Amino acid sequence: MGPLSAPPCTQLITWKGLLLTASLLNFWNLPTTAQVTIEALPPKVSEGKDVLLLVHNLPQNLAGYIWYKGQMTYLYHYITSYVVDSQRIIYGPAYSGRETVYSNASLLIQNVTWEDAGSYTLHIIKRGDGTGGVTGHFTFTLYPKLPKPYITINNLNPRENKDVLTFTCEPKSENYTYIWWLNGQSLLVSPRVKRPIENRILLLPSVTRNETGPYQCEIRDRYGGIHSDPVTLNVLYGPDLPRIYPSFTYYRSGENLYLSCFAESNPPAQYSWTINGKFQLSGQKLSIPQITTKHSGLYACSVRNTATGKESSKSMTVKVSDWILP
Ligand SMILES: *[C@@H]1O[C@H](CO)[C@@H](O)[C@H](O)[C@H]1NC(C)=O
Ligand SMILES: *[C@@H]1O[C@H](CO)[C@@H](O)[C@H](O)[C@H]1NC(C)=O
Ligand SMILES: *[C@@H]1O[C@H](CO)[C@@H](O)[C@H](O)[C@H]1NC(C)=O
Ligand SMILES: *[C@@H]1O[C@H](CO)[C@@H](O)[C@H](O)[C@H]1NC(C)=O
Repeated sequence: MGPLSAPPCTQLITWKGLLLTASLLNFWNLPTTAQVTIEALPPKVSEGKDVLLLVHNLPQNLAGYIWYKGQMTYLYHYITSYVVDSQRIIYGPAYSGRETVYSNASLLIQNVTWEDAGSYTLHIIKRGDGTGGVTGHFTFTLYPKLPKPYITINNLNPRENKDVLTFTCEPKSENYTYIWWLNGQSLLVSPRVKRPIENRILLLPSVTRNETGPYQCEIRDRYGGIHSDPVTLNVLYGPDLPRIYPSFTYYRSGENLYLSCFAESNPPAQYSWTINGKFQLSGQKLSIPQITTKHSGLYACSVRNTATGKESSKSMTVKVSDWILP
């Protein structure tokens, strides 16, 4: 705690004088007025958040208020005070730069830390009151901030309808409830989901290409929840049955033949062409300029995905004639 930071000296001495005569009461001692109460807003504060210590039923005709950290009105625990007449705010040695006192005596504490938790004393000084005023205590508790959860997956590149996926939400704690999300929708009710031991683990017996994510897990405690960063899968699939374009089969001699083959696949398929069972070329496109009747035959496109280990093929008959079709 630093030395006394330059509040107006006369002011300080005045307040200090009042303090010395103040009796340290454990409870509010204002029999003729409604009970002064202090309430924390929000009631459950976690680290890094702001809390407002709201003062209710403040009596009339007050000279000022002083907030102290702890149960004692020691000078070195003096945070800040408000002088009603001059509307001045004075800072004391225990001021951290994060406290704001309002004219209604409420105290805002921003970016709450663990050191801020504990008790506070509010000292109220009535105008013309020779007794030095009254004090009240208030204790607020800091609740543990939920850690940001993260997902671990046994396989980020699962094969469609093949690999079993195990998602695990970290960290592990008996104090949390775990919730799983796919595309922002809860996976709680999905019939595809198996939860083996605990909610923390999500088991997908299989996954389709449309279920890439984003997957998120959420941990919750009594006071709130927090989501993990989204995780996206690279689902390996295909190749599906290829298609050949254009699909027409009749050509005339001298025309150019351009065929193209496509199959859904992740990663993209490897393509190859055969004519009458004989390897022609690798690649998605087959082009033969100025075909003749000897180019008639069975054209087949074969596709292969080494990641999934799957293959597929499609064939079409091409007929080349010398005469013009009706
Ligand atoms: C509270 O913390 C945030 C982020 O760390 C910072 O930008 C802000 O200035 C802090 N506010 C106070 C009053 O210290
Ligand atoms: C006191 O003032 C603060 C800031 O203006 C406000 O948020 C709070 O509600 C006030 N408290 C009461 C009890 O009215
Ligand atoms: C769970 O909560 C209890 C009581 O709040 C606490 O003592 C314990 O350390 C917590 N456990 C974990 C793993 O955070
Ligand atoms: C993926 O989604 C598309 C469009 O929503 C649908 O047509 C297709 O059948 C789905 N595929 C699988 C494997 O679920």
